[in-house]
Amino acid sequence: MAARRGLLLFYMFALSFVFSSNHVCLCVEISRPNVVILFADDLGYGDLESYGHPTSVTPNLNNLSSNGLQFMQFYVTSPVCSPSRAALLTGRYQTRSGVWPGVFIPSSTGGLPHNEITIAEILQPLNYSTAIVGKWHLGAGKDGNFLPIYQGFDEYYGIPYSHDMCFCSKCFYPNDRCFDNCDIQYSRCPLYHGKTIIEQPVDLVTLEKRYTSYAKEYISRNAQNETPFFLYYAYQHTHHPQFASEEFRNSTIRGTFGDSLAELDWSVGQIIEQLHTSGVAQNTFVFFTSDNGPSIFREYRGGCAGLLKCGKGTTYEGGQRVPAIAYWPGKIKPGRTQELASTLDLLPTVANITGAPLPASTTLDGVDMSQILFERMKSQRESFLYYPAEANPKRGVFAVRYKQYKAHYITKGSTLSGPTNVDHDCSNTSLIHHSPPLLFELNRDPGERYDLSTDKRYQSVLEEIGKIRDKLVSGMTWGKSQINGTDPNVEPCCNSGCKPFPKCCTCKGSEVNFITV
Ligand SMILES: *[C@@H]1O[C@H](CO)[C@@H](O)[C@H](O)[C@H]1NC(C)=O
Ligand SMILES: *[C@@H]1O[C@H](CO)[C@@H](O)[C@H](O)[C@H]1NC(C)=O
Ligand SMILES: *[C@@H]1O[C@H](CO)[C@@H](O)[C@H](O)[C@H]1NC(C)=O
Ligand SMILES: *[C@@H]1O[C@H](CO)[C@@H](O)[C@H](O)[C@H]1NC(C)=O
Ligand SMILES: *[C@@H]1O[C@H](CO)[C@@H](O)[C@H](O)[C@H]1NC(C)=O
Ligand SMILES: *[C@@H]1O[C@H](CO)[C@@H](O)[C@H](O)[C@H]1NC(C)=O
Repeated sequence: MAARRGLLLFYMFALSFVFSSNHVCLCVEISRPNVVILFADDLGYGDLESYGHPTSVTPNLNNLSSNGLQFMQFYVTSPVCSPSRAALLTGRYQTRSGVWPGVFIPSSTGGLPHNEITIAEILQPLNYSTAIVGKWHLGAGKDGNFLPIYQGFDEYYGIPYSHDMCFCSKCFYPNDRCFDNCDIQYSRCPLYHGKTIIEQPVDLVTLEKRYTSYAKEYISRNAQNETPFFLYYAYQHTHHPQFASEEFRNSTIRGTFGDSLAELDWSVGQIIEQLHTSGVAQNTFVFFTSDNGPSIFREYRGGCAGLLKCGKGTTYEGGQRVPAIAYWPGKIKPGRTQELASTLDLLPTVANITGAPLPASTTLDGVDMSQILFERMKSQRESFLYYPAEANPKRGVFAVRYKQYKAHYITKGSTLSGPTNVDHDCSNTSLIHHSPPLLFELNRDPGERYDLSTDKRYQSVLEEIGKIRDKLVSGMTWGKSQINGTDPNVEPCCNSGCKPFPKCCTCKGSEVNFITV
């Protein structure tokens, strides 16, 4: 046991059988699998080669798709970043945790409430090592008291929000400026290690390489120590401004977005390869997905939702249906699935796989996906709620999916999917109430083009979906909004107390000392 410390748990089946003076124990070895969640940013349903993009270059993600299970109907709970991330980590709609409306900014005083229980927190009691690399976006707050190390993560190496929420000057080697504007009013982008800022502003050109090295070293170290681990690698790619290191600059014919995606793909390949070379691939559940749909207002420098309608910021399919791939050699049979699933379902699934108890006395919205993953059975999920980017209890839910149907009660375009979008439903930001709701059959019409709400044959579907909506909505408790308070003084600063703030928050990069593998 000592030699395989942490990796194995011995479950005593029968307490013990006593034969004369000998204790004989029937024990079953249960290994604790590792969990790796790879989370892309603003990567749309149509951006990967394996989801049909003609000019993307994603050989490693192609490989993951062909050796893993590719989800065709997988959803995030919000068309914007912070709420989507809150739901992934807690298995609860963001409405409950109060991560609404919109997203955290560098001067936000709030964050994911400490009493929310994350995937990292259900694994820590089982002696898992836990780490997040990359973008947190669930608050930093005064003295960094909402950073991931206060939500169950032993280690953090990354920027706590989007890299456009700070001054950006150089995105490509040797000296190419960043395309698309950044929010220059905030302090410069900080790179944290734990709760210490080790570089400000961060050098974007080398960032992905350093994230990848950190993640690889983390895997290698834990594999060597035979410690089970949870790695949550939340990429800055492919959020704007696009950036990439030297090898990926102009490496694709898809422009800066393609180059940034190519670097993300390279990194995914590095992580998978490290799992194999460290000998833990057969004992690791890997899940790749994206936080929300593409940032269409960036035009060709944003992503692509493929055949889905609209993108980021909207509750149309393009805003919330995302690519998703599960990979576990020997355990998950390669293929594709049409089963309905969501990031909400990751926490219960991880609990099943690892034997972690589900958080007690919290309402979970996720269901265990194990049956889809390992047995190719039906999803336990039949319905899904779409909340808008600017969610609030007065407006409530915008759309409801039930089986293959989706009803839109309220629609609204978004500046994130406009304003040059030729589809005015995506760009027009007027709130439109629909009674009866717009009704689409998503298996036959994934692009939400043909409204069935006035077709007599679908009246019973409308009634049924209305009942489902009433039931789900009556079970929803809105937590107090955490995205409200701001105070410029809390903006991350490596040079705390300096003047003029926040301009003076500039420190020479100091590398973390880690062994490169
Ligand atoms: C794809 O995976 C196979 C085996 O899993 C590996 O041999 C090959 O190098 C991979 N190719 C790429 C492009 O990652
Ligand atoms: C975790 O480690 C501690 C200290 O080594 C040990 O006492 C405990 O039994 C372990 N818990 C589990 C669930 O393995
Ligand atoms: C990349 O392509 C752009 C646009 O064609 C060009 O201006 C730039 O010099 C190229 N950069 C490198 C490093 O090749
Ligand atoms: C875990 O998932 C399997 C399906 O793979 C299921 O049979 C089992 O009941 C689940 N275990 C728990 C504790 O939910
Ligand atoms: C946006 O939609 C509203 C409601 O349908 C409509 O009244 C308005 O004219 C539209 N605005 C534009 C710019 O198309
Ligand atoms: C934000 O906080 C202020 C002051 O507490 C309050 O008046 C306002 O209603 C809050 N807004 C939201 C969206 O919660």
